[in-house]
Amino acid sequence: MAALSRRAFIGAGFGLVVAAGVGVPIALSGRPADSTGSQLASRAPIPAAFRRALTIPAVLSPFAMDETTDHYRIVQRRAMAGILPGLSTPVWGYNGTFPGPTIVSRRGRTTSVTHTNELPVPTVVHLHGGHTPPESDGYPIDVVYPVGQTAADWRGMHDRPDRGDTAQGARTYTYPLDQRAATLWYHDHRMDFTGPSVWRGLAGFHIVTDDEEDALGLPSGARDVPLMLTDRSFRADGSLLYPSIDATLREVPGVTGDYVAGVLGDVMLVNGTPWPVLAVDRATYRFRILNACNARRLDLRLDPSPADGMVQIGTDGGLLERPIPQSHIEAAPAQRYDVLVDFSRYPPGTAVTMRNDFGDGRMSEVMRFVVGDRDGERFAAPARLSTIAPLSASDAVVTRTLRFQAGAGAHSWLIDGEPFSPDAVAANVRLGSVEVWRLVADFHHPVHLHLNPFQVLSRGSGGPGAFDAGWKDTIDLRPSEVATIAIRFDGYRGRYVFHCHNLEHEDMAMMANFVID
Ligand code: C2O
Ligand code: CU
Repeated sequence: MAALSRRAFIGAGFGLVVAAGVGVPIALSGRPADSTGSQLASRAPIPAAFRRALTIPAVLSPFAMDETTDHYRIVQRRAMAGILPGLSTPVWGYNGTFPGPTIVSRRGRTTSVTHTNELPVPTVVHLHGGHTPPESDGYPIDVVYPVGQTAADWRGMHDRPDRGDTAQGARTYTYPLDQRAATLWYHDHRMDFTGPSVWRGLAGFHIVTDDEEDALGLPSGARDVPLMLTDRSFRADGSLLYPSIDATLREVPGVTGDYVAGVLGDVMLVNGTPWPVLAVDRATYRFRILNACNARRLDLRLDPSPADGMVQIGTDGGLLERPIPQSHIEAAPAQRYDVLVDFSRYPPGTAVTMRNDFGDGRMSEVMRFVVGDRDGERFAAPARLSTIAPLSASDAVVTRTLRFQAGAGAHSWLIDGEPFSPDAVAANVRLGSVEVWRLVADFHHPVHLHLNPFQVLSRGSGGPGAFDAGWKDTIDLRPSEVATIAIRFDGYRGRYVFHCHNLEHEDMAMMANFVID
């Protein structure tokens, strides 16, 4: 479908909601405007909290290693997961698990991952936060058709993936990973259908390590804990509930009327387990927190906790320059926060709950830590963690303004008034140059740029916010706000996307291309 008819489609399809006078439904998750979206009520009984142990996704082993490269294989397939007591949940999993297996890579060693698609629909893999050449970045129409199917089987498909650099059955993605140690993640990125695919389970961690981070001697092993936070809703039979217009994920993208602003689940999962418990020693832990919710913003706090209960040491693009003691962490979808928590400050037996102050009722809790009586190593973050060369507005050769706003139909989300089209280019940038982008929002939009991390320069008339330090790849834009970011476009020439990481907004076209040449 060409850009024009696609836009016509969006306009026509979504008139109903406007006619009904609903407009853009916003922030119904409790406190108004904490999240852009509406909560979807599960039909299955909501499980009790703090009954099951946190599980840690398995670390994947390479099937081969050579001088430069670690080679991995992942099969994307259907599987059954035990998420709710007494019920089975069909998921789409990388190697059949949700979350997928964790890949751990060393900076500068190439990681090659061959993904085989045994799912019923085409898929695309994006390594979020990866400094990746365009052919492996998971461009939204560069699909891998399911094993045994061809483009011909998908001729009627809405988004015309046949225009992309497609593969049949399997594709090998190559990641140079010449980048700082950081907590990255990989997830599906198929044009128009990312939200439902990630909701069904297509997300996993990809951690990059390096010498600089090793030299700090941060908590490691069982005390280096990735936490993937996802909200989900369930049908009575335990299957995942998601309000797709077209549940086959074949022809019609998007979600039904009430959820066009974003789908919020009513069961909080951490690494795929509802409201889990982790038994901890009286020692310092490192938590790699990833908000992998489709649309829900989180405001995380430990209870009880001293005011400096979480010491933030890293974010999307790796270590901060200096640790920041935080009493709470606001995390928008796709953002990562690396924090240290010293449980030796609690008496043995203390139950420490991670709360979400942006959630109501059951969604105001996330997980629990139970402090044991074993003493372990305490780790005080050094005053200096890393060096971050600041980017400033004066480095910029170009300043652009980009508007992230709802379209006239309640069902369309636009950048500068345009829905995503693979054919349109919103920004042509020069390799090696620095640009300042002024990002203007109507509602909450977590805006993500592929390829290069950026620095937040300002919000409104003030400086960066409390959670903006370091190299970010996703900024939490707030309603009616103008934020400025500085980006150095380096590494590779080619076409990449930037988009809202509220996955419903992304699927309903809040995405655009930038081309580096
Ligand atoms: Cu996490 Cu373009 O994606
Ligand atoms: Cu958005």
